[in-house]
Amino acid sequence: MSQKLMLEKIEKAQREIDTKREVVKHGKMRQCYHFMGETGWINDPNGLIYFRGKYHYFYQHNPFNGFWDSMYWGHAVSNDLIHWEYLPLALAPSEYYDNHLKGGCFSGSAIEHDGKLYLVYTGTCNNGNGFEQAQCIAYSEDGIHFEKYKENPVISAPKGVPTDMFRDPKVWKHEDTFYLVCGASMNGFAQARLYKSKDMLNWEFVNVLAESRGEWGFMWECPDFFQVGNKYVLMFSPMGGKERTSVYLVGDFDYNTGKFFYKTSGEIDWGFDYYAPQSFEAADGRRLLVGWANAWDWMPFWKDWGPTYREGWCGFFNVPREAVLNKNGTLSFIPVKELEVLRKNKLERKEILLEDGREEEICDGSIYELKLKVNLKNTTADKIILKLRVSDHKRTEIVFDLKKAEIRFDRNHADDWSKGIARGPLNLMNKDCLDIHIYSDKISVELFSNEYQNNFSCNIYNVEKGQKNYIVAEGGVAEIDTLEKWDL
Ligand code: FRU
Repeated sequence: MSQKLMLEKIEKAQREIDTKREVVKHGKMRQCYHFMGETGWINDPNGLIYFRGKYHYFYQHNPFNGFWDSMYWGHAVSNDLIHWEYLPLALAPSEYYDNHLKGGCFSGSAIEHDGKLYLVYTGTCNNGNGFEQAQCIAYSEDGIHFEKYKENPVISAPKGVPTDMFRDPKVWKHEDTFYLVCGASMNGFAQARLYKSKDMLNWEFVNVLAESRGEWGFMWECPDFFQVGNKYVLMFSPMGGKERTSVYLVGDFDYNTGKFFYKTSGEIDWGFDYYAPQSFEAADGRRLLVGWANAWDWMPFWKDWGPTYREGWCGFFNVPREAVLNKNGTLSFIPVKELEVLRKNKLERKEILLEDGREEEICDGSIYELKLKVNLKNTTADKIILKLRVSDHKRTEIVFDLKKAEIRFDRNHADDWSKGIARGPLNLMNKDCLDIHIYSDKISVELFSNEYQNNFSCNIYNVEKGQKNYIVAEGGVAEIDTLEKWDL
């Protein structure tokens, strides 16, 4: 009966997508090479997995409108992480535990087991006093059509955890045991709770993997846990973490106790538009991350769900990044090499001397990749400023403040919508070179610096024609060793 309801809801939503697809496709703000839903709203990446020779993205999805509502799981597959084919929706709210009073199939993850594709997700219902969340299972023989487990939910909120703060399971396998970590809150502090199972259906609590003592907020959304090299990484998106939206911790972990001790912490991305990243293993073993290129604070209903809502859609994913462990214990997040297939019309310039205050034009337009290496030995300037996406009265400024050792991503004049300055450190210690790498698309700029340790993803809703991009040095001269630019 309930499987029938899910299939009916998927069919209805598919029909809606069919009627809206063409119109949405022609929206002025649609991205050129970033992953988006076909219609409607998307948020977190879910169930990212390489399964039977293809990459699968699932995603939090309201296919009907460009705003958040009762959540479905969208689904797409790819051979190369760049070109995507949409598949039928994977999950629709249909059961008491994921449907009642506008609940939904909230975020979760995927794993292969017994030749089937398993999804673990948070069923959210409204019990009349607010959300009630529990972890649920669905599976599929063909990787396309899913069925929910009859005995769902498989893990309910334990005593002391508010029922509306128990969600986003991330599953993995170690030896012959499955593990999952999910976000929770206890006594006002965020937790990542660890569970284990032999069969994916019966779960047992192991331990609190890690918890906030206040410094990392009151609830961790979308926790993820994985190994890189000989270290373990816990990442999460804190609620109540102020500007921090994507934290990672690096440390040691013991499967016997289920405790994680971290030594290093950092931010995956310091920008405004990077949230709820999920990791997965690529075909060749790389650890890749995909994030939602928005964040709740800047995409609120009181701002009409942002500027793309009127085009019938909202939300996309940032470019996939590879997590690499550095010798000093930090992580770098490097755009995946698969992106190189997009490159066209290479422009290369060497040894450009920037005199104080003179704007040097880099390129036209908004859809490009740019790599710069600034020679710090021959640079006397206090600041190097990128003025990007400049049109009549609009500009986005990224300031590399060499004196204050700070990067400032300034959107105050970027478009008619975005405001604010995102800040992060510019690591200049004993460096001869400042490295800058940018992916710019129709409505976004992703900046990578400090060997991919300081990254800023920010959306720029300027789609005016005739945009130009400049670089300028202030307070002295600067020497650019190499400038490479591609159309994408
Ligand atoms: C994070 C999040 C998750 C939740 C989902 C709902 O962006 O709030 O915690 O499962 O989105 O769509």
